[in-house]
Amino acid sequence: MDISPDFAAQIDEVISHYPVSKRSATLPLLHLFQEKTGFIGADTIRWIAAKLDLEPINVLELVTFYPMFRQTPVGKFHIRVCRTLSCAMAGAPELLEQFKLAAGIVPAPQTSHGHGPGIEKSPDGRFSIEYVECLASCGTSPVCMVNDDFYEGVRPGSASEILAKYR
Ligand code: FES
Repeated sequence: MDISPDFAAQIDEVISHYPVSKRSATLPLLHLFQEKTGFIGADTIRWIAAKLDLEPINVLELVTFYPMFRQTPVGKFHIRVCRTLSCAMAGAPELLEQFKLAAGIVPAPQTSHGHGPGIEKSPDGRFSIEYVECLASCGTSPVCMVNDDFYEGVRPGSASEILAKYR
């Protein structure tokens, strides 16, 4: 795995915050890698494990436990639509469909376990979308995020308007 000198310095700086047990740097390093590369691949898991003197399974179990970590690449602009109760009742399913239409994302078939298709991408790779669990703003549902931008009380039909900012 190619790690630039600058990124290596950033990684070492993060690890230096945990002098007693560098294992504690696992979550911060996962965030750092996801921010840098967009997802956590198998090579990243192995690399972090080796760096922190862990087994890859110790890193993988965190990646699979926390839903904010992604194991597949996303589009340049990644849309997350909350599907937990308040947002579901306030129209999250319709909002997701409106975003897909506005982003040119062709609907994928449901998976056999009924959890939906996971991350879906537009053919040009510009947009991707997924359902996520509660984004901690239930009182202003429905809510969604585009990369790090947070949108609350999203009006019906405003998906195109929101995505226009990312064209
Ligand atoms: S249910 Fe959507 S933010 Fe909590």
